[in-house]
Amino acid sequence: MKKYRGAFIKNDNEVARLREANRMVANILDAVGEMVGVGVSTMRIEELARDMCSDYKVKPAFLGYFDYPYATCCSVNEQVVHGFPNERPLEDGDIVSVDMGVEFDGFVGDAARTFPIGSVSDDVHKLLRITEESLYVGIEHARPGHDVYEIGAAVQEYVEAAGFNVVRRFVGHGVGAKMHEKPEVPNFKPGMRGLTLQNGMVIAIEPMVTLGNYEVDILEDQWTAVTRDGKWAAHFEHSVVITPQGARILSVSDKGLNRHTIAP
Ligand code: MF3
Ligand code: CO
Repeated sequence: MKKYRGAFIKNDNEVARLREANRMVANILDAVGEMVGVGVSTMRIEELARDMCSDYKVKPAFLGYFDYPYATCCSVNEQVVHGFPNERPLEDGDIVSVDMGVEFDGFVGDAARTFPIGSVSDDVHKLLRITEESLYVGIEHARPGHDVYEIGAAVQEYVEAAGFNVVRRFVGHGVGAKMHEKPEVPNFKPGMRGLTLQNGMVIAIEPMVTLGNYEVDILEDQWTAVTRDGKWAAHFEHSVVITPQGARILSVSDKGLNRHTIAP
């Protein structure tokens, strides 16, 4: 595979396989959106994701990755990312960030969304809306010839203008035959120059946004990232391919692009 400064350049065939992997992920997230609600536990999300993977005859990409024990990450309220599914029923006003990956035909699809449970407070609804919108702001800046760090600079500016903060501890990434490839895609401005985006690069852009401070801690389970101040966080992720026309989103479901929290 062709490389540019450590990042793989995918050919049309590889992009098609990545699109298929990401279509499956987006379909799973659509199905999650239809089944989550008050009284449903995140373990039901995990089961649905695993069932759909067996229907699709694909491997969940997270399960076993650095010994991660589940197919999904289900992060509730002050949990930012990498939360374990569990049996606690979700309550009215909660939010759950669901991150999912599959491996199809040697290529990884990766996407995430935060779902509101029942009716959430105005602040929390705004958190979801701004986080999702910031993802699309980042995607707008993912163009050939642009510095990859322009993505995060734009995300950070958008998020902070709304009064929220962007997590620094976790970043987006190149994605392909491996889940994490070069380059790193921060959601903030790193203050130096990064790699210049090239046609055929595939990256996962995944802003994590907090209502309060951006500092996170990892729980004793060694995975679950929570905000240090206990304020809530949201996470939206798309995998995109860089084309001459700009970034093309790969994680699109059969129902089309899903922009849940954005008014049409
Ligand atoms: N979307 C996450 C990421 O890009 C998923 C990784 S969870 C893990 O890093 F368990 F697989 F590590
Ligand atoms: Co990712």
